[in-house]
Amino acid sequence: MLNNCLFVIVIVSCLLSSTFSIPIYSKVQGRTWDQAIAMAKSLVAQMTLEEKCNMTSGIKGPCVGNVLSIPRLNFSGLCFQDAPSGVGDKALHSTAFAPGIQIAATWDRDLFYRRAVAIGQEFKNKGIHFALGPMMNIDRNARAGRNWEGFGADPYLSGENSFYYVQGMQDQGVVSTAKHYICNEQETHRMYIGSDNFNQPNPSITKGYSANLNDKTMHEIYLWPFAASVAAGVGSVMCSYNQVNGTPACQNDKTLNGLLKGELEYPGNVMSDWGATKTGVESVLGGLDIDMPGDLKLMGFTLVQAVDTGKITEERINDMVTRILAPYYLLEQDQGYPSIDLDRDGTEDHYKINQQVAAAGFILLKNTNNVLPFNVKTDTHFYVYGAAAGQSDEGFHSAGRPEHAGALYQGGGSGSTDAPYAIDPLTSLLNKARNSHLHIHYITNQFDYIAIVDTFHTHGFNNSKCLVFISAYSFEGADRDSLHALDDGNELVRTVASHCANTIVIVNSVSQLNLEPWIDHPNVVGVIWSGLPGSEYGPAIVDVLFGDYNPGGKMVFTVAKKDSDYGTDISLSFKSDYTEGVFLDYRHFDKYNITPRFYFGFGISYTTFSFSKLNISTSRKSKHSASSQYQQHRMRSYNSIGTLKVYEPVYEITFTVTNTGRMDGSEVPQLYLGFPAEAEQPPKVLRGFERIYLSAGESKQVSLVLTQKDISYWNVVNQKWTVAHGIYTVWISTSANNADIKLQSSFNI
Ligand SMILES: *[C@@H]1O[C@H](CO)[C@@H](O)[C@H](O)[C@H]1NC(C)=O
Ligand SMILES: *[C@@H]1O[C@H](CO)[C@@H](O)[C@H](O)[C@H]1NC(C)=O
Ligand SMILES: *[C@@H]1O[C@H](CO)[C@@H](O)[C@H](O)[C@H]1NC(C)=O
Ligand SMILES: *[C@@H]1O[C@H](CO)[C@@H](O)[C@H](O)[C@H]1NC(C)=O
Repeated sequence: MLNNCLFVIVIVSCLLSSTFSIPIYSKVQGRTWDQAIAMAKSLVAQMTLEEKCNMTSGIKGPCVGNVLSIPRLNFSGLCFQDAPSGVGDKALHSTAFAPGIQIAATWDRDLFYRRAVAIGQEFKNKGIHFALGPMMNIDRNARAGRNWEGFGADPYLSGENSFYYVQGMQDQGVVSTAKHYICNEQETHRMYIGSDNFNQPNPSITKGYSANLNDKTMHEIYLWPFAASVAAGVGSVMCSYNQVNGTPACQNDKTLNGLLKGELEYPGNVMSDWGATKTGVESVLGGLDIDMPGDLKLMGFTLVQAVDTGKITEERINDMVTRILAPYYLLEQDQGYPSIDLDRDGTEDHYKINQQVAAAGFILLKNTNNVLPFNVKTDTHFYVYGAAAGQSDEGFHSAGRPEHAGALYQGGGSGSTDAPYAIDPLTSLLNKARNSHLHIHYITNQFDYIAIVDTFHTHGFNNSKCLVFISAYSFEGADRDSLHALDDGNELVRTVASHCANTIVIVNSVSQLNLEPWIDHPNVVGVIWSGLPGSEYGPAIVDVLFGDYNPGGKMVFTVAKKDSDYGTDISLSFKSDYTEGVFLDYRHFDKYNITPRFYFGFGISYTTFSFSKLNISTSRKSKHSASSQYQQHRMRSYNSIGTLKVYEPVYEITFTVTNTGRMDGSEVPQLYLGFPAEAEQPPKVLRGFERIYLSAGESKQVSLVLTQKDISYWNVVNQKWTVAHGIYTVWISTSANNADIKLQSSFNI
């Protein structure tokens, strides 16, 4: 086995070695796709046509999706289960992890990986074969209901998250499912209820919206994170409810057979989102391999007849079943995988990594006169306001409903976990009060303005700090009505700020929020974006408020001053035209020179940093060997070899970051690239980042790698990633704000 793998790795090295040599990778154990596909084919060869067809449709069973067993061949079936941020679908004893939007805000690849490891361990412990995540749709619409499950508005950041998520989970032996493929950027009108017979359209037919976009936009924005997950070796891809350019995503020959299986050489399977399949034969021909949950019996046994009548070849059926089984062999699930028990407790000490992710994803947006962090010797008196500070009165899942508002840990729908517990900020503040001798008053009924106003006249109020917790919730199946805080949180902030000179607002929001009604109020001296932090919200926020953790998260979308500034919105018709092209989020604000409230990539710290010594070299000449480390870190036996070519490092960018303040902390230097005109790119695009943790006074050299793909644009004529000729500008910045650019240089190709 080991010899075989070494052989494969040597081949990989040869493929990549056209510009520089690569060391033998440390992790060589494990099966390759080629080996897994061969094993799958040998099982398929022993199956009857009926068994093979039946395998292409989900059946009833213990999990949300189930693939039939074939006892005669010692194959015990497959279990598919939600969700991207922990085991979902009401399974007991599953950690409610900080969701995608929070892990993305950490900008920390090490945490991307370690969180996915913990999630993967919980899936494996319960005997689940396929986890239905990660979710990597782009935050194109600020109000989109599922933004919280994904990784924000930038394809590069989303791609890095997708890559390390897949790797962390598949390293535990659990198959990841990249979803929702593709252009599922809104919930409104997402469903397609069609008819199998296109010659006799059903008058009651309702089609899900069609996302309409061009080839360049598809490649440079929406396909980018899916391509990263394929490169990582993802075993499954879930097609989405919507249509793409007029064809349902689960029977879309262009996106499934063309882009995914053709161009990206994706060897795994395509599974439908639950109920997204609306046709049998057309879907099979369009590239769908497995229909979930299978209730409508559009595929499965009915395909036997389709083969008999020549509508589908048996070869295609073999291909479908091979793709369903290959990931199972790839991750060695045929060797002693745990039995299925969805309620088995495998949470171990995952609260620790969960708390770390929550804290690392908090973003400090405003800190006038360093009001934060609090000093328990001098800041001893606190007033806490807002339902979002405490527990909902009806459990963790009702906290987003206006009448039951409470602290939010995750959003709603199939992406959520049935949290076994969750700790709200108020509870943790009360613990802090006991241990540090603080005095805390609170009003969590935010409709009770009589009680709120009464607090302004109480003894001790005048020298106290006021913490106002606001929230915004969303869930699968609907988009948000507005970009304002739940239960008129704006009025709450304004009321408190009009009396309290030291008002600190904590924003517990699923995605973009309009902060304009109060952000410039002179008494709002501190703002922390707490995002959607999972069940360790309370301990994590207290650590940040009192300086036990120095915040360093960064925005993963732009927050606009006016809602119309985003330039994109939910479509209420059944057409969603992506007319903005590649000019999304900061790329759009840059193009039209619109000043947002908070820039993409922005976030401050309790300490300060300086930047120096920018140097650009080609990977070939490099003495720092960041490129080989980069590849070593990313290489697995199950990577998709076909795709890796475009991820070959070609430039190394090095510079030094120094913590010039008095507190330990972290910064996220971001590499924005300016392309030659030929590439038709926005003024700048994110192409690198790293979160650097530095002790007070410490300096570190940072090495970022630019790959072939990073410096390319999608050439719609040649249908290839193409390097433009001319001058590329490299900016090292701490946000997408040009005023935050710290270092600048260029290279010429
Ligand atoms: C295939 O599915 C059909 C319909 O559910 C069922 O009648 C048949 O027994 C199944 N065959 C096998 C081999 O599983
Ligand atoms: C049957 O599968 C189990 C794991 O599911 C494996 O441990 C066992 O060796 C297999 N037996 C045969 C005869 O292949
Ligand atoms: C708080 O300050 C206000 C304005 O300075 C003053 O009118 C009020 O009496 C003070 N309240 C208390 C309880 O000290
Ligand atoms: C930049 O890096 C290259 C390759 O490591 C090295 O030869 C060169 O001296 C460096 N330049 C500066 C200004 O540090």
